[in-house]
Amino acid sequence: MYLFGMENLVWVEISKNALQSNINTFRNLVGKDTILCPCVKSNAYGHGLIETSKIFLESGADWLAVNALYEARSLRSAGVLAPIYVLGYIALSDLEEVLNLDLRIVVYNKETVSRLGEIAEKLDKKAKIHIKIETGNNRQGVVAEEIEDFVKYILSFKNLEIEGLSTHFANIEDTKDHSYAEIQLKKFNEIVAMVENLEIKIPFKHCANSAATLLFPETHFEMVRPGISTYGMWPSDETFLSFSNERKMNISLVPALCWKTKIAQIKTVPSGEFIGYGCSYKTTRQTKIAILPVGYYDGYDRGINNAHVLIHGKRAALRGRVCMNIIMVDVTDIPEASLEDEVVLIGRDGDENISAEQFSKWADTINYEVTARINDRIPRIYV
Ligand SMILES: Cc1ncc(COP(=O)(O)O)c(C=O)c1O
Repeated sequence: MYLFGMENLVWVEISKNALQSNINTFRNLVGKDTILCPCVKSNAYGHGLIETSKIFLESGADWLAVNALYEARSLRSAGVLAPIYVLGYIALSDLEEVLNLDLRIVVYNKETVSRLGEIAEKLDKKAKIHIKIETGNNRQGVVAEEIEDFVKYILSFKNLEIEGLSTHFANIEDTKDHSYAEIQLKKFNEIVAMVENLEIKIPFKHCANSAATLLFPETHFEMVRPGISTYGMWPSDETFLSFSNERKMNISLVPALCWKTKIAQIKTVPSGEFIGYGCSYKTTRQTKIAILPVGYYDGYDRGINNAHVLIHGKRAALRGRVCMNIIMVDVTDIPEASLEDEVVLIGRDGDENISAEQFSKWADTINYEVTARINDRIPRIYV
């Protein structure tokens, strides 16, 4: 966990209470009978795969969703016994491990089905699979015209069990107009009915990410797969506004992540001098600059140029370009700043707060990318 001696210089604090509170919020939203399967892919959106997963499970989550086999393997190695659902593709050559680790996987091609069917028979095990249905995302998925044939093909393998039918919304969080999501949901319901007409009982139908779980109870079915909001972030401003306008309830999502570093040097730069690569910033007064040991390798986006950090609860503006391992900030108006003082890159310090959403606006991206791209090597500390 503590690699490269970084733990004293750059670290991420994760609030256990915040994670617990968000899981409680989702439990209240979906009720006790719906499987709550938070997405912990991509290092739990930057929050740390193993610890976050354990906190989620202790807080009442039922299953965990990961993207890749290596994530599922890490969870099993860490002693996690809960059901794990793998959302992403698994190479044909790795399918035996799916059975050995007792994973649920999503399927959408016949090659996976036949290989898994053969391996399951050889090992004398049952493989639990969830069919991904194409309803309008045009990512993974089996189209409506092929679904009956696909289901019958699966049923020809006696060691395969169709445990779930799933789909994923393409346009539910980026907009306040949910007509496309409604079309997808209708299509999903039609295809579910088609499959169930084949006299097969499907235990778990699921399609709800955070936005769907928050906004549309009719998407909950037997299981929900929220990601971003279990970490305390709204999927978008539009989702927040839609929720406030359309659902007659109050919830509070509590951001769990705080990203910190320490001042590595303070220096005084005369007026009219340049700071950093490309001479992109020129001082207009004698300036006190703090050097911070974090850069784009750590996930502090190089595209950012108009941002600030927090030191002693005050804003210190970024000066010059983000380097690979260093950024420079202006502490002229924070005279108390000194070597190794704590710096907040994302999170609260006194009355000031830098949210992941604020950071994402500086970086011209979304909150998801901001937290997911904080380098995995940086220690996560659970407080
Ligand atoms: C298939 C699938 N389900 C659920 C989620 C969770 O989405 P969100 O983080 O918006 O809740 C994702 C995230 O990308 C996903 O790919």
